[in-house]
Amino acid sequence: MKQIIIEGNNYLEGTINISGAKNSAVALVPASLLSDDIVTIDNIPDISDIDALNEILKYLGAKVDRNATSMTIDSRNINNKEIPESISSKLRASYYFMSALLGKYKHVEMYFPGGCSIGARPIDQTLKGFRALGATVVEENNKFIIDADELVGNNVYLDMPSVGATINTILVAVRAKGKTVIENAAKEPEIVNVATFLNQMGAKIRGAGTSKITIIGVEKLGKCYIEVIPDRIEAGTYIIAGALMGKNLRINNIIPGHVEMLLSKMKEMGVNMEIGEDYVTVSKTDNLKPVSVKTLGYPGFATDLQQPLTTLLTQCSGVSKLEETIYENRFQNVEYLNLMGADIKINGRVIDVKGPSKLIANTVKATDLRAGACLVLAALAAEGKTTITDASHVLRGYEKIVEKLTAVGAKIEIEDI
Ligand code: EPU
Repeated sequence: MKQIIIEGNNYLEGTINISGAKNSAVALVPASLLSDDIVTIDNIPDISDIDALNEILKYLGAKVDRNATSMTIDSRNINNKEIPESISSKLRASYYFMSALLGKYKHVEMYFPGGCSIGARPIDQTLKGFRALGATVVEENNKFIIDADELVGNNVYLDMPSVGATINTILVAVRAKGKTVIENAAKEPEIVNVATFLNQMGAKIRGAGTSKITIIGVEKLGKCYIEVIPDRIEAGTYIIAGALMGKNLRINNIIPGHVEMLLSKMKEMGVNMEIGEDYVTVSKTDNLKPVSVKTLGYPGFATDLQQPLTTLLTQCSGVSKLEETIYENRFQNVEYLNLMGADIKINGRVIDVKGPSKLIANTVKATDLRAGACLVLAALAAEGKTTITDASHVLRGYEKIVEKLTAVGAKIEIEDI
């Protein structure tokens, strides 16, 4: 087991460069299978979720050339065989292989995907998209056998703007016959990145980033090159670190528009920051005002930043309210923040965070990826040495977190026990 150890209460000074977005990269890699040629994906983050996808690519027989920041994938001679549950259960994004293989071969066999345990996370909307385009889905003991004689475009109305269902429906529709219209689509920037990638291969996707996406199917997709957009959740996490412990901490290589909901809330709190064209400089600020936050699909407040933000709310003077509307079990960090001196009460889907609290080191557990990020932030601000167990969750989504934080003055190490 990996654990992260942080000696807290040290200022963070200097620059942190943001990596490519996890939630884009984990869709782009499986989407590469739709090409009939070689594709290159640049600015790939070095995180364990990408290692797991790479394992699936290799299992299927794709030729992958991965260096520090890029991946070249040749899937021209892959073997479309059942992906073992032991690999697909490692992450949620494994189900992008479901749609990419279905789109290309009209047949796929795969198990229910994995991912952080933060709620039920059903895939009914993805299956609704597959069925609308002509596929038959048989589910047996957690395994899905999905077939189509022919994939034909259709109108798909998503019951909720699901990121996964939007991307999965696009991945099938690009190779279906005729026109697909996805309504109530999710609008996350990662979806735009995936649509741009496919359009560069020759797909015809319009409207990505809005709630109505139109796709005209094509027979072949070709060679292409794409860069992964900067990770807005990694950026947001380090911007919060700056508000807690920064001394002109510069978070570089970001798209500020992608973190606007966070920056607006931080302005409301009174955080001392400067927003540039592709960076934010942020410093520790005292006497922060409490705020109310509700998580929503993009461009609303990102659920993935809810747990990291909670750490900052413990430093506001008064009671902040935070409502989680996307997942039913994304407050597992609260128990551990309270162990570190926070005063947080859970009332169903809402937490009341009373501050300011003096955070004190303890031994805490990263129950999931963003809970882990929340505890890293708390440990950076806390008095004493915090141990965060189950730290492999954190490594799924934060590239070189130890190196990046060490470079700006944090006392952080990771150990295998
Ligand atoms: N939902 C359904 N049915 C569906 C799909 C979704 O009921 O078919 C509901 C569920 O409650 C589900 C929620 O909608 O939990 C959100 O689902 P969505 O499909 O939007 O999320 P996702 O595609 O599973 C991606 C990110 C998550 C991020 C969400 C929301 C990836 C691999 N994961 O998940 O990222 O929280 O979008 O923005 O892209 C993370 O990075 O920590 C993370 C969990």
